[in-house]
Amino acid sequence: MIANNIHTTEEKAIDYISNLIKNRDYDSLFYTDGATEKLRNLTNAQNILLTSSCTHALEMTALLLDLKQGDEVIMPSFTFVSTANAYVLRGATPVFVDIREDTLNIDEKLVEAAITENTKAIVAVHYAAIACDMLKLKKIAKKYGLALIEDAAQCIDSYYHGQHLGTFGDFGTLSFHYTKNITSGFGGALIINNDKYLEKSKIFWQKGTNREAFLGGQADKYTWVDVGSSYMMSELNAALLFAELEDVKNITQKRLEVWNQYFDAFKNTQYGFRLPIVPDGCKHNGHIFYLLASSAYKKNQLIQQFKKRGLDAKFHYQPLHLSEKGIVFSKTNSNLMITEKLANLLVRLPIPGNISSINFADLLRNVYELTPATGIPI
Ligand SMILES: Cc1ncc(COP(=O)(O)O)c(C=O)c1O
Repeated sequence: MIANNIHTTEEKAIDYISNLIKNRDYDSLFYTDGATEKLRNLTNAQNILLTSSCTHALEMTALLLDLKQGDEVIMPSFTFVSTANAYVLRGATPVFVDIREDTLNIDEKLVEAAITENTKAIVAVHYAAIACDMLKLKKIAKKYGLALIEDAAQCIDSYYHGQHLGTFGDFGTLSFHYTKNITSGFGGALIINNDKYLEKSKIFWQKGTNREAFLGGQADKYTWVDVGSSYMMSELNAALLFAELEDVKNITQKRLEVWNQYFDAFKNTQYGFRLPIVPDGCKHNGHIFYLLASSAYKKNQLIQQFKKRGLDAKFHYQPLHLSEKGIVFSKTNSNLMITEKLANLLVRLPIPGNISSINFADLLRNVYELTPATGIPI
């Protein structure tokens, strides 16, 4: 079965990790600092904290914004549960607005209508690493004095008008879960673009202590100074991330080759699929290639048929506002017709990171066999 995300850096990573274990170097910061520096160079962001997950990075933003019961956070419903749960955990209410038909990202034209006196923040989720309209969202956030968070979980090495995603808002969050382009096993990062949150973010990251100030020589001991938790990535995970970051440009390029092969294979056909739309100024990383089928029935057929042919095709996010807890914890300010429609039609095709592991001729022949000419309804 051709599956997603075959990572290419195992040998190097095993070397780095086994040395750490042999030397019992668990509290070294060699790879933590090294991976952070590599991320700084890639993103051009100065303030980055490696975290145990993107989920935890999102939770840190809720803590940093000091969100409370009754506060509202605007976001799309077409996203992963962590985008919403991070704020629900602090008692705040996710307010869902619909997505754009072209990018499947939050529809910036609908955001202002969802703002109330309780609104504290907007979360932009860049689906498939294709950017939201960050210029418009930034304008809205500024006009109403709201925080802007980018859930850039999928967005390593992805850009909007040349600027790395996750660096536009007050905060950006990245994921290094093993399903992402580059991985630390589990892991993530919090990018802090607004300096006013910097000091607190280091304290929350370090379990509510001033350990960062102590390590930097600004305090002679470290102690309990605030709330916080164990959000920091472990050095073992950072060693894997370091190896992956050494190869990130190569990984992106290989994925884009697969993405482009899919795109070319489908673009001039009468299959009736809609392909991803990449607006001007967006440079993605090949994280997700998807097709939108013309009906939910056809989508299910397609997933089954791809699987039979050894391609691990999958659907994606189920709209949060329709989920068991989404109904309880969240609000919607309008109908979410585009979200409901598109989530039901979407099929993701696998993008293995290691291009040499797949035979494209075979793969594309399999894809072509799914045409209506074979009698398989699509
Ligand atoms: C948009 C989005 N946000 C957050 C997450 C959570 O990331 P993590 O698994 O690193 O916590 C995911 C996971 O896939 C995601 O897709």
